[in-house]
Amino acid sequence: MQGSLDKLSIAVRMALPSDAAILASIHARSFVRAWDEAAMAQFLGAPGVLALVASTKREGPAQGFLIARAASDEAEILTLCVLPTHRRQGLARALITEAVAGLRRAGGRCLFLEVEAGNEAALALYRSLGAVAAGQRPGYYEHGADAAIFSLAL
Ligand SMILES: CC(C)(COP(=O)(O)OP(=O)(O)OC[C@H]1O[C@@H](n2cnc3c(N)ncnc32)[C@H](O)[C@@H]1OP(=O)(O)O)[C@@H](O)C(=O)NCCC(=O)NCCS
Repeated sequence: MQGSLDKLSIAVRMALPSDAAILASIHARSFVRAWDEAAMAQFLGAPGVLALVASTKREGPAQGFLIARAASDEAEILTLCVLPTHRRQGLARALITEAVAGLRRAGGRCLFLEVEAGNEAALALYRSLGAVAAGQRPGYYEHGADAAIFSLAL
């Protein structure tokens, strides 16, 4: 019961340029190849980019974020991550749900999501949202792992 109450209290908002540092720190705690603050700032100002942050507290600091880029009626998630201490509380699901709504309002029809083969958390998350496998990119990552591509109708 407590879990579902927690999930109800998630706040999602657009990322601001002033969020760049915290986004970089969340990214560094989620991925081996981290994007630094300057890279984050560049994404936040780029055309066609939708950047959202989520927190379990309204007005609280970001605990997870998503960056998507849209072109024409297709969009892709460039990155999505949640602080290890705040996982399994519904933040990623809330971020994708909000992104889907925003991209749909902007005329998007299809959202692509890419994930490293074997990333069971992301695979389960994408499948739970109704995303379907759309292809593979063998050896896509620098360390040789394959990428699995999923698509979600908007
Ligand atoms: C993948 C990631 C973003 C999920 O974030 P999260 O906020 O913990 O996910 P949610 O709490 O919204 O989970 C939603 C659903 O996804 C699935 N899921 C999430 N994490 C899972 C895990 N570790 N194992 C199995 N299923 C999982 C479940 O179906 C879950 O629903 P439930 O909790 O009601 O069972 C997070 O684990 C993360 O930041 N990982 C490192 C970065 C990464 O891999 N990003 C994605 C690829 S770009």
